[in-house]
Order: sequence, then C-alpha cells, then structure tokens
Amino acid sequence: MEKIFDKIKVVVVSDNIDYRLLIKQLLASDDVVVAGYANCNETALEKVKGLYPDIVIFTCTSQASAVFELSQQIYELMPGCGVILLSESMDLQLLNRAMESGIRKVLSINCSSNELMEAIYKVSLSEKQRLPDDSKIFGHKSRVISFFGGKGGTGKTSIAVNTAIALAQMGRKTIIIDADLQFGDVNLLLNIDSKDTIAELVHEKNAFTIDTIKSFTVMHSSGISVLCAPKSPEYAEYVTGSHIEKIINTVRPYYEFIILDLTPSFNDITLAAVENSDRVFLVTGLDITGLRNVKICVNILDSLQQREKLALIINKEGPSIINVKDFQNIIGLPIGARISEDTKTAVDCLNKGIPFVIAAPRAQISKQIKAFAEKLYRDMA
Ligand SMILES: Nc1ncnc2c1ncn2[C@@H]1O[C@H](COP(=O)(O)OP(=O)(O)OP(=O)(O)O)[C@@H](O)[C@H]1O
Ligand SMILES: [Mg+2]
Repeated sequence: MEKIFDKIKVVVVSDNIDYRLLIKQLLASDDVVVAGYANCNETALEKVKGLYPDIVIFTCTSQASAVFELSQQIYELMPGCGVILLSESMDLQLLNRAMESGIRKVLSINCSSNELMEAIYKVSLSEKQRLPDDSKIFGHKSRVISFFGGKGGTGKTSIAVNTAIALAQMGRKTIIIDADLQFGDVNLLLNIDSKDTIAELVHEKNAFTIDTIKSFTVMHSSGISVLCAPKSPEYAEYVTGSHIEKIINTVRPYYEFIILDLTPSFNDITLAAVENSDRVFLVTGLDITGLRNVKICVNILDSLQQREKLALIINKEGPSIINVKDFQNIIGLPIGARISEDTKTAVDCLNKGIPFVIAAPRAQISKQIKAFAEKLYRDMA
C-alpha cells in the first residue's frame, strides 16, 4: 500500500480560489499531501483542528488580521503544526506581526515550488521539536479512517469493525463511529444493545465535549469504544454533517485510530466524514458493477479534491474474470488490502455477534485484516 501517514500533511487556508490552485501546483511532490482547504473565517480553526496537519499555509491579502489571529491560535493549541504565510507584499510590519503570531516562515506568493518545499521541510522538522515527549493525548498522531463505497454489501462494516478490533488487540486506542445513520449495524456485529447512540448524543446540550461523547459510547470487551448509529432510521435526520465533523474533531486528540463506517451513498454525512478523514478506503468486490461503482466514487471524490486520501480494499476476493492488477490499473488507486472470500467464517461470526478476528483468529480473512491493521499502524508511526 502506498504510504500516506509519513507524508507531510498540509492544509491551505485561503479565500482565494486561484491561490489555492497555485499552492496545489507548487506542492506537486510525493512527500506532501494536501489534506484540505479552509476559508479564513470563524470555522477555519475547527476545520484545521479536525484535519490536524503538519503544516498550515495561509495566504495574506486583505484579511491579514484574521490570518494573524488564527495562526496565533494554531501556535497555541496545536503543537507540532507549523504555519507558513504566502504574502502578496512583504514589509517590516508584516514580518513582525507574523513573528508575534507564531508564523514560522513568510514567503512571497510568487515563490517557486522549491522554495515552498524547502520551507515546508524545515518548518515541519522544527515544529516536531516543540511536541511534548510523553504526551498523554494523541493529537497529531491520531488517524481518522473511513470505509466507504458506492455499493451496498461489499463488506465495509465487516472490515471497519474487524480492523478496529485488530488495532485494539495491538494496544492502539481505537473508537469506531457508526456513521451509517439509517441502517448502521456495527452494534449487531459486536452484539451491543445500547440505548445511547449518536442521535441521543446530538440532542445533548454539551454534545461536543469529549466527556459527553464518551458517555454516549459503549466499551466493547475487545477494548474499542463504539458510538452506535441511531436505533431507528427516522432518528438519522437529527444528525448532520456538521455534527459528524465536530465529533471527529473532538475525539481526535483522545484516540490513535478513529474508524468510520459509512453508508454506500453520497450525502451530507459521508462527505463530512470523508473530508475530515486522513484515509478513505473504498471497499469493493472484483466484479464489473464494483468497478463501475468505484469509478463513479473516485470521479466524484476527485472533483472534491479528496483523491489523495483514497485507496482500494478488494474484499471477497476469489476466482473472477477481472484480476486485481487490471482493476487497480483501471481505477488508478493504491490497494490497501486484499481480503479473501470466506462466507462461512464471515456469516457465522456475524450471526454470533463476535467479529472474526476474535472468534476465528486463524482464518485467512482474520490474518489478512490483522496484517492490514499492522500496516496502518506502521505507516503512522
Ligand atoms: N471477506 C468476506 N467473505 C465472505 N463474506 C463476507 C466477507 N466480508 C463480508 N462478508 C459478508 O458480506 C455481507 C455484507 O457485509 P457488510 O455488512 O460488512 O457489508 P457493507 O458493505 O457494510 O453493507 P452495507 O452497504 O449494507 O452497509 C455480510 O453477510 C458479511 O458477513
Ligand atoms: Mg455496512
């Protein structure tokens, strides 16, 4: 699998679309991934905190004071995240204000790709030295991973649940959020019957503090925390994309892995989850309809500038007319994992409410999931 976790993660904060495109071009390097964009307004800090990048790049035009305020907050609240400013003009007053607000480097908006890349390497290295050695919370080390796909029944939930458990078995602090709000069945796979779900959580006045969220999660015997989907589909409408974004942002510093199981359709919820994820795995079978569906998903996510996060998981792999290489070539995405078809194990465990990595640890599908979880962890270390 192509690595993403050791790339330098950049968020661009700029109201100017031309500048966003320009920066994206300047960053054309395999070492850097643009995790997202934000406008320079009051929601920017939440967005940047949710993505927890290594570097934030601001552009400076008329909104200069908002830029300095925001960079000061990033400096204070997000150790390990360095700020670079690309400015249209350069004068002593601007440089002074930049220094006072914790901005690490000011470059001209007309700088070259090499200049910007060099600044990114230097700033991310020196920012890492500002991190506490023995931090109790995970901050920038936490990873948000979504399992998605345009087709139902491909195995998204099975893979999300079993991967979360495999990570917990490795000692990683993990939460799974069932964001398939109408038909979520993470609770079934785990044999959990919780009256507290994401729907009750968003009704709570203080819904977005870590303590409130934790009080609505269930601790499964495997060690993973679970935020269940609403008990009944009609409650799904209470939950919005903005709730999902806030939940992710709030839990991010407290877990090493935040796993999201998504519904097989594009809506406000899936888009918020994808935008706030570090990695999105599209789960598919090796068949023509799967190929068509993945292609459509990739095109849509590409137009939303989310392509760099995407990787494929081939599930239920068995004899088929399309082979994995052809599939990968047509789609043009890295393969995160290949999981064999094993209906007996998958369905037996589903019926028992015990995930296969626990109930059938020696089955090939369990070993494949564990290898996948280990790779996820290695890539993030
Ligand atoms: N590797 C596998 N081999 C055989 N069967 C599998 C495999 N993975 C999952 N399944 C089975 O496929 C069915 C669908 O799985 P699952 O519910 O995980 O899919 P999903 O993509 O989450 O579905 P939905 O789109 O409805 O949410 C289940 O019966 C599950 O046990
Ligand atoms: Mg599912």
